[in-house]
Amino acid sequence: MKLFEKDQKVKITLKVNGKPYETEVEPRRLLVHVLRELGFTGVHVGCDTSNCGACTVIMDGKSVKSCTLLAVEANNSEITTVEGLAQDGNLHPVQEAFWEKHALQCGYCTPGMIMQSVWLLKENPNPTEEEIREGISGNLCRCTGYQNIVEAIKTAAERLRLNQPLYQRR
Ligand code: FES
Ligand code: FES
Repeated sequence: MKLFEKDQKVKITLKVNGKPYETEVEPRRLLVHVLRELGFTGVHVGCDTSNCGACTVIMDGKSVKSCTLLAVEANNSEITTVEGLAQDGNLHPVQEAFWEKHALQCGYCTPGMIMQSVWLLKENPNPTEEEIREGISGNLCRCTGYQNIVEAIKTAAERLRLNQPLYQRR
């Protein structure tokens, strides 16, 4: 087993939104802070007990709360944050649907909520309302009352199934 000295830093490599990053971190450093320091400040911190989901990103195909992972645990992983969703300035259908259905107010939960929604719709392309609510139950929002978020996810699901992003429909 490899032991670390106090304050010793470890080199890690992450692929974030398709680009490689190399950085040195203390083993106790949380992934959420490292992502924010790398410039991905859409990843938010809303609590210190792993319940709010504002820090949600997709890591190696799974939605994870990045406040609950050490950065060293993420070594060599592929991470997608909200900043990596739009392609060539065109919003991802989930982003478009959040806008169209007024699914955000202060916007603080939104990056995590959108990443969770993207992951949910990959896992279950045709969710019921109950499955949507269950699927985002790890993501808290203090502004919207959730209803418009559910509507946005339904809309995005339909358009993803039809493979017709909103921006191609106008
Ligand atoms: S910051 Fe609240 S769950 Fe990660
Ligand atoms: S939009 Fe403000 S917390 Fe969700």
